[in-house]
Amino acid sequence: MELIIKNGTVVTAKETYLADVGVAGGKIVAIAEKLEDPEARVIDATGKYVMPGIIDGHVHLALPFGGTVSADDFSSGTKAAAFGGVTTIVDFAIQMKGESLADAIARRRAEADGKVCIDYGLHVGITDAREEVLREIPEVISNGCPTFKLFMTYDAFVVDDGTLLSIIEKTTDSGGMVGVHAENHKIIGYLTARLLSEGKTAPQYHAVSRPDWCEAEATSRAIRLAEAVGGKLYIFHLTCSRALDEVVAGRERGMPVYAETCPQYLLLTADCYLEPDFGGAKYVMSPPLRTAFDNEALWKGLRDGYLQVVGSDHCPFTMEQKKLGLGDFTKIPNGAPGVETTLPLLYSEGVLKGRISLNRMVEVLSTNPACLFGLPNKGSLAVGYDADIVIFDPDKEVVLSYQDLHMCTDYSPYEGLRVKGYPVTTISRGRVIVENGIFTGDFTHGRFVARRLPQF
Ligand code: URP
Ligand code: ZN
Ligand code: ZN
Repeated sequence: MELIIKNGTVVTAKETYLADVGVAGGKIVAIAEKLEDPEARVIDATGKYVMPGIIDGHVHLALPFGGTVSADDFSSGTKAAAFGGVTTIVDFAIQMKGESLADAIARRRAEADGKVCIDYGLHVGITDAREEVLREIPEVISNGCPTFKLFMTYDAFVVDDGTLLSIIEKTTDSGGMVGVHAENHKIIGYLTARLLSEGKTAPQYHAVSRPDWCEAEATSRAIRLAEAVGGKLYIFHLTCSRALDEVVAGRERGMPVYAETCPQYLLLTADCYLEPDFGGAKYVMSPPLRTAFDNEALWKGLRDGYLQVVGSDHCPFTMEQKKLGLGDFTKIPNGAPGVETTLPLLYSEGVLKGRISLNRMVEVLSTNPACLFGLPNKGSLAVGYDADIVIFDPDKEVVLSYQDLHMCTDYSPYEGLRVKGYPVTTISRGRVIVENGIFTGDFTHGRFVARRLPQF
């Protein structure tokens, strides 16, 4: 063996037990009560949890949005991810108008390959569903991108219902899965125009322009469309109780609908938009933050199994970039940093506060995303799996601050929040890439993962 992690508490979606974990050739080769090998490097994990690395299935590195580009590129973003115990991300290849899907994927891979310290995959964003583009779908799926994101809003990306239906049909035929950004575009346009005409231009009106019922309506519509053609559906970044009700109703009808939420929707509320001096702009993301009632409904949804995944929707912009929307909230680039803080937030605010169990945390952060996004050797700790491992110190206390975090922003939505429990060592395919606050990885190590079909 090359590496033995000794005396730790192994945590998977199903079990928690004391064991040593042996690694060779990038894989887990043994899990047993006691492992010895004089040749192996030993990491002592006494008092620590040894968990599968986080799979963050919702990350936007270097995303062009609203006349600017999200501030983390593939190097800085994957490095920050590694500090947060993340060992795989799934980013997006969003098609430009006129482009083929194959070219969109190749363009994105050219940005990422050789610049990532952890493994990555790509969801495909279809924005221009010409006939020949629809014909590409089976090949895109068989070439390792079996999941898609369709935007029901945003002027630059939106697709209509007919297009959404045809893509769900086509994708389902080939065993893939469509995910949606579910908000009603026309209603947002109507409400936005009214707010601006009334001179309501501050960040707080972003939330007013995109109410929860607008998300719930689009969620319901997408579920009904998928149901009509016998398709599966994934809801990205679900934020509120009303949209969750639609998922619950769909699942109770037997519909294979899966949904993700994000730490910001579990922990923050629309009151953040009132932060003075344009501070509310930090939290401008879509869909927007909601209420404390919604926060708790989402925790319950995670507990009860109606929400299967937590992703970060990491899409950081600096305050300078956010200022593009001074005087007009519609011009504030949408998104916030988060890839590095998902695990400590979920542990400290979720597990320690009794909202979800430790095993459920591993399930929603690793095991379920591995299944739903077609990553067969990732997302758990078992012999034969990739040695993507995070060693987590449940006693380590950290006060979160952008200055100590590694994401390319000059703020954190959680600035000053004290968390208990923090990742201390991150291992990607057997290689230690973060250890005791030091980055030891390199940007040629991470690989594009050609994903398989989603498993349910
Ligand atoms: O505001 C957000 N969520 N920005 C990233 C793009 C998206 O819709 O996921
Ligand atoms: Zn979205
Ligand atoms: Zn997103």
